[in-house]
Amino acid sequence: MTNGLFDLSNKVVLITGAAGGIGSAITHAFAQSGAKLILADRALVAIEGLVETMPEHQQDVLAIEIEVQFREQCAAAVERAVERFGRVDVLINSAGVNTRMRPEKYSEDVWDDIVDINLKGTFNMCQAVFEPMSAHGGKIINIGSILSLVSNAMTAPYSASKGGVLQLTKSLACAWAENNIAVNAILPGWIDTKLSRQARIDIPGHAERVVETTPMQRWGTPEDLVGAAIFLSSSASNFVTGTSILVDGGVTAHV
Ligand SMILES: NC(=O)c1ccc[n+]([C@@H]2O[C@H](COP(=O)([O-])OP(=O)(O)OC[C@H]3O[C@@H](n4cnc5c(N)ncnc54)[C@H](O)[C@@H]3O)[C@@H](O)[C@H]2O)c1
Repeated sequence: MTNGLFDLSNKVVLITGAAGGIGSAITHAFAQSGAKLILADRALVAIEGLVETMPEHQQDVLAIEIEVQFREQCAAAVERAVERFGRVDVLINSAGVNTRMRPEKYSEDVWDDIVDINLKGTFNMCQAVFEPMSAHGGKIINIGSILSLVSNAMTAPYSASKGGVLQLTKSLACAWAENNIAVNAILPGWIDTKLSRQARIDIPGHAERVVETTPMQRWGTPEDLVGAAIFLSSSASNFVTGTSILVDGGVTAHV
């Protein structure tokens, strides 16, 4: 008996990166839980395709094309969400990119692209929802990474951006607790999506090494993130803010 602690029915949830592996797993699970969804992604065709896979939920879904690194696009997306559904209860920042190379090789453009999308884009969306959310309270979930905590030689801007996302989460949590807005992060480990697939292609033996170094001895699936997302979006987490949940099969616990 959970007394509705995990209930998401009629919650208005805005998800960036909704067309991605993790975003679409959360989208499907939240739609089945009765949430109203704003699916925001740079890949409009992909989000429209995602909406088509949920014909029974089409009345409760709004697809928005967005580049999260541009503040005015974030503000416009939130405005459309409020126009359509009257409020935003939950924001999930899942848009993210990575380009792997040694640090001495990054051009300024590639650095800017990664940090602008992963870190500034997350901040832009948080700032855009602040006003409508502070009217009635809400919850923000930022998708960081195990690379918010640990790192490797080939991900300098990605690690810097994801470390920044974790610190941003803490700062916003401190500031916005008085507005009844909780801000937390989920830190996924190695999850089988398009984002991580490139690393498997680029690095010989990587797929196997992930399995060897992960105590649970497998890659994560996008669906593995859904439980933490439901917890942090629902009243089950009402005294939780400024923290993060690792969903990594134990990989960061392993030396
Ligand atoms: N897959 C993993 O192993 C892993 C591990 C740790 C953290 N993460 C994080 O999880 C989140 C989701 O990643 P994923 O694995 O689902 O990857 P993915 O590539 O499948 O999805 C990312 C989505 O973000 C969208 N996106 C990229 N740039 C955007 C922009 N400027 N504006 C709007 N949308 C944009 C893409 O179109 C895509 O749909 C990312 O923040 C990623 O860094 C992933």
